[in-house]
Amino acid sequence: MRILIAITGASGALYAQRLLDRIDAGQHEVNLVFSSYAHQVIAEELPDGLKLDPRAQTHNLKSMNAPFASGSNAADVMVIIPCTMGTLGRIAHGHGSDLLLRSADVALKEKKKLILVPRETPFSLIHLKNMELLLLAGATILPANPSFYMKPKSLEELADTVVGRVLDHMGIPNSVAPRWKEAEE
Ligand SMILES: Cc1cc2nc3c(=O)[nH]c(=O)nc-3n(C[C@H](O)[C@H](O)[C@H](O)COP(=O)(O)O)c2cc1C
Repeated sequence: MRILIAITGASGALYAQRLLDRIDAGQHEVNLVFSSYAHQVIAEELPDGLKLDPRAQTHNLKSMNAPFASGSNAADVMVIIPCTMGTLGRIAHGHGSDLLLRSADVALKEKKKLILVPRETPFSLIHLKNMELLLLAGATILPANPSFYMKPKSLEELADTVVGRVLDHMGIPNSVAPRWKEAEE
């Protein structure tokens, strides 16, 4: 698969790291794009920075010279993790002014998988209406809401309760997080 992972300036850089750790860059084409604010939040939240597989390709936010900027060569799946309310709103309203926004716009119009992992609390009516619009347009809204029922023992395991669901929706088989009643079946 051609995969595009977009990282924005929402809290939850660990989600992006854990997701990237679980995607085999030998098996898939892994592409990355960062919003300008993503770097600031990564610096706040990941003391050692984001660790990338050297085979993953990072694209310039301000350049449209990437395949997925065009509907003729869209990514198979785009994940925005974590996703700010700003980016979510801009996508919902059709802005395509940088590579991240344009790629999301392309994913929607080409009916490709677009998975947004929004992080904010509480949500305003504007946030929820924008999510409604995106859902109606075909996106998957998969909030950064970790679960506790499998008793995660670390921040990483907690983040994996979200990351496992993201991988499920990308169509990547995984056993990142334990599944409910799995052991008993
Ligand atoms: C440490 C930090 C954490 C932030 N967390 C969030 C967040 O969880 N959700 C959100 O929507 N914005 C958050 N913001 C604000 C966004 O970074 C800001 O609105 C920025 O303009 C978003 O730009 P982007 O969508 O291009 O990344 C945070 C900012 C900082 C510095």
